[in-house]
Amino acid sequence: MSTNVRPSDMARITTIDQANDFINEQIELIKEQVKDKKVLLALSGGVDSSVVAALLIKAIGKQLVCVHVNHGLMRKGESEQVIEVFGKQLDANLIYVDASERYLSLLAGVADPEQKRKIIGAEFIKIFDEEAKKQDSIEFLAQGTIYPDILESIKAKESGKPVKSHHNVGGLPEDMNFTLVEPVKLLFKDEVRVVGEALGLPHSMVYRQPFPGPGLGVRCLGAITKDRLEALREADAILREEFELCGLSKHVWQYFISMPDFKSVGVRNEQRYEGWSAIIRAVNTTDAMSATIEEIPYAVLHKITNRITTEVEGINRVLYDLTPKPVGTIEFE
Ligand code: XMP
Repeated sequence: MSTNVRPSDMARITTIDQANDFINEQIELIKEQVKDKKVLLALSGGVDSSVVAALLIKAIGKQLVCVHVNHGLMRKGESEQVIEVFGKQLDANLIYVDASERYLSLLAGVADPEQKRKIIGAEFIKIFDEEAKKQDSIEFLAQGTIYPDILESIKAKESGKPVKSHHNVGGLPEDMNFTLVEPVKLLFKDEVRVVGEALGLPHSMVYRQPFPGPGLGVRCLGAITKDRLEALREADAILREEFELCGLSKHVWQYFISMPDFKSVGVRNEQRYEGWSAIIRAVNTTDAMSATIEEIPYAVLHKITNRITTEVEGINRVLYDLTPKPVGTIEFE
């Protein structure tokens, strides 16, 4: 599929049967395009790159080389899930790069949000490039581009200056000299999810909420430190667990913890206890351009607060952000 325009008569994929037809059609197209050559894919573990990986594994097996860069800014358990699903269950040709220490040292002392985003994105490209060079005879690069990405890039070109330098950590520069394989580029997100289900990917991967390319890097506010990043990751895991338990995960669009870079005074075991704060953010939106706040029941807020302040080392306060977008953005940085 080389066109970047979705045909007006293209049926929306809503059923597993339709998804299977799409998968079979794509397998043929991919085989025809790639032949016996190798394909490289940056596998973040997000829905889009995971669906593309599973599709390519079905079509060309070990000719696909997946590179998963763990920048240390993933949520709890995400890199492990990529290894489990792709490395073990699907027996993919998976290269796992643990770059977490490398990122921590590059980001040490960097407090400016835009500078952080740039460092995270540039380092990803560097690591991916290093891995690509270790492989021989790679001609193709697979990408999880979806139709809204194409529509957005057209809009961005037309409108000029964006609010933040958004990037998908999988977004690679055009001069990498590969031919692109983009099997889901004419699909909308809901269709990609149906295809993911038809491919047998785990529900938690297929219905994963949106997660920014720079990951927890834009939620660990100001200059990132290892301790604060770990506390944030643990607190975020508790929030997600509680949202699953009470069913909020089924309808809230995006929910997460951010952590400011200041400490406040608290008391624990009758002793002064200085700790960080965890800020709960839960928003609903259709296009991420504007967002409203989810009104989380107080009982749920109390439980999350209690768990975070007792289970996570270093946190002594939990706050609840009530700011819609605009005036806030969804992420803090
Ligand atoms: P903001 O903070 O701009 O976020 O209101 C809107 C949506 O975009 C996500 N986001 C990103 N997604 N790369 C991405 O792929 C990025 O650099 C990035 N920054 C923010 C954010 O999580 C929200 O869903």
